[in-house]
Amino acid sequence: MRAIQMTAPGVLEQVEIPAPTPGPGEVLLNVGAAGACHSDLHILDAPAGVFPTPLTLSHEVAGTIAEVGAGATGWSPGDRVAVYGIMGCGRCRACLRGLENQCRTVPVGGIGISRDGGLADQMSVHASRLLPIGDLDFAAAAPLTDAALTPYHAIEVARPALRPGNWCVVIGVGGLGHMAVQILKQTTAVRVIAVDSRPAALDLARRLGADETVQAGPDAVERIRSLVGPPPGGADVVLDCVGVDATMTTARNVLSIGGRLMLIGLGGGTTPVAAVADAPPPVPFEAVVEMPFWGTRAELYEVLALGREGLIHSAVQTFPLDQTIEAYRQLRAGEIEGRAVIVP
Ligand SMILES: NC(=O)c1ccc[n+]([C@@H]2O[C@H](COP(=O)([O-])OP(=O)(O)OC[C@H]3O[C@@H](n4cnc5c(N)ncnc54)[C@H](O)[C@@H]3O)[C@@H](O)[C@H]2O)c1
Ligand SMILES: [Zn+2]
Ligand SMILES: [Zn+2]
Repeated sequence: MRAIQMTAPGVLEQVEIPAPTPGPGEVLLNVGAAGACHSDLHILDAPAGVFPTPLTLSHEVAGTIAEVGAGATGWSPGDRVAVYGIMGCGRCRACLRGLENQCRTVPVGGIGISRDGGLADQMSVHASRLLPIGDLDFAAAAPLTDAALTPYHAIEVARPALRPGNWCVVIGVGGLGHMAVQILKQTTAVRVIAVDSRPAALDLARRLGADETVQAGPDAVERIRSLVGPPPGGADVVLDCVGVDATMTTARNVLSIGGRLMLIGLGGGTTPVAAVADAPPPVPFEAVVEMPFWGTRAELYEVLALGREGLIHSAVQTFPLDQTIEAYRQLRAGEIEGRAVIVP
């Protein structure tokens, strides 16, 4: 079968490999769609040894069950499913609470990250990772498993601060951010300010319900402050879906006292936290800085429900498998609107 693999750090290739055989408790999926996340670019850019090679990329997968392995009860060939990408140990304190994204045993990882993912004609996966998608399109369902699940989890964590009339700033309206805007508008009554460096992304944010949009740049803090008001007030929650120095600086400078800064993007930025009495602290008093990671299986169930009810929509640009390398080129160049999704 065909697969798109990182064969060495920075090297992405289309290869022919044998189709996997489902092991005990696993199913074989015919991949219907696999999303291209910006994290895949970080994986490609990482130094040798951080991620295994060869590695079939994509941790956002939906498809049809082709074959059911021994003991994978409850599923049948033909079932249409989405894949929950995290594989927790199932036994630690966090997993027992359903927080597999905080597993204390298995290092942060998942399909397409620490083991083969969905950019292939077929993949095998443990049946416990499957959730039914009803008649959702595969290309619409795949991004729900990460591009929507990750901001949904961050929003769940910050929900006590997402009160009617409060302000939430979403920085970066790409794969994750375009879902964040919709989840906020559909599940809270906050006012949403979307920030991006690309005018096309701001257009998308407006179409998806953002109340205000602000072009990233030197006067972004002033523009956002004109909406959210001066310190010690400000944005109650900031979802930084980029995570570079510039966006983290914007984020902490518009945050309210007691605000919540959710660092979702993994762009390599840093931000100061300091305990000072004689100057405004870099992060306001009472503020919380959090690093949410992906989401839980229960949250994915809820995200799929939002998708199946038509309350959130994946804006996708689809590519055939043979065009995957071009899709990643466009993602890196900032040419994708919403999510790039590969349809084998
Ligand atoms: N924490 C997690 O669990 C988790 C999960 C998935 C992805 N991520 C990370 O989230 C980030 C976003 O992923 P994505 O797939 O949505 O990426 P994307 O490329 O689809 O979207 C990024 C968006 O940010 C915008 N942007 C880039 N630089 C900017 C800047 N300086 N100011 C304002 N806007 C800017 C781009 O124009 C684009 O619209 C990545 O770093 C990814 O690795 C984290
Ligand atoms: Zn991702
Ligand atoms: Zn665990």
